[in-house]
Amino acid sequence: MKIFERSSDLQFFLDNCRNDNKAVSLVPTMGGLHDGHLRLVEKAQSLSGVVVVSIFVNPTQFATGEDFDSYPKTFSNDKFLLEERGIDVLFIPSKDEIYPNGTLSNYDVGEIGRLLCGSSRPKHFNGVAQVVNRLFDIVKPNYSIFGEKDYQQLLIIKSLVENNNLNVSIESVSTQREDDGLAMSTRNKYLSAKDRMKAPLFYQQLNNAKMAIEQGNSIEFVMQKTLSELSVNFEVEYFEVLNANNLTQIATNTAEIIIISAIRLGETRLIDNIVFRRSNV
Ligand code: PAJ
Repeated sequence: MKIFERSSDLQFFLDNCRNDNKAVSLVPTMGGLHDGHLRLVEKAQSLSGVVVVSIFVNPTQFATGEDFDSYPKTFSNDKFLLEERGIDVLFIPSKDEIYPNGTLSNYDVGEIGRLLCGSSRPKHFNGVAQVVNRLFDIVKPNYSIFGEKDYQQLLIIKSLVENNNLNVSIESVSTQREDDGLAMSTRNKYLSAKDRMKAPLFYQQLNNAKMAIEQGNSIEFVMQKTLSELSVNFEVEYFEVLNANNLTQIATNTAEIIIISAIRLGETRLIDNIVFRRSNV
């Protein structure tokens, strides 16, 4: 596995690959790799001859007081996992390499960035779009792969590509879960043993909501019931049932639905979602 810290070295390598007619995939990450990340990597390998995984903890998507400084850094394990899977390139740029002109940006992803996670993390998605745009600029991938676990992020990246006519195909991978249903996340490491035992209830309660909707209960009824059940175990930041295509309110004929929520458990913030098709509309 080649490891590059500098964009120019990476670009030189990738130009040669493209001359050999190899397509390039990019899997952007912040490290702390787990099986969820590795499914993205496998998908990338199925799509293209060269796979670049980036590890960069992007300062512009963290607000003051968030976990930027303490974000889990597990570089030697990450490197081992990627090497084991035969990844071609690991890109580990410095902050100056990504932001040679400083981190200021007036990039605004618009209304979708202010909903849901954006209401408690107002600058978060602008920072995500800024770094992903920069990574696309450096790597110029044919494909880039993102997880449905961060569903709002996925839609924002898709609209970034569409609005700027970027020549990259965005592919997604379903949420990978632990055996007890908890969505895999680098931040699960923050959970105390007691909270880790409680955490699977989050997905279970979202799943109960899905089943109740499928059984024909009204969305309003299911929302109220689920919200009050979630509140017994967690501090609920938001819980919504929305149109999965654009995160707007559901109309009577909306078939693609997302149940999406963020909660706090102790000091840890967890997000999860379930996307499904309503058959009875
Ligand atoms: P990070 O949290 O490291 O996640 C990297 C990618 O892995 C994202 O596309 C995320 O959706 C995906 N992922 C994480 N957990 C997953 C799971 N359980 N199942 C499936 N996919 C999962 O998301 C970021 O980093 C950053 O915001 C980034 C896009 C790299 C920009 O800085």
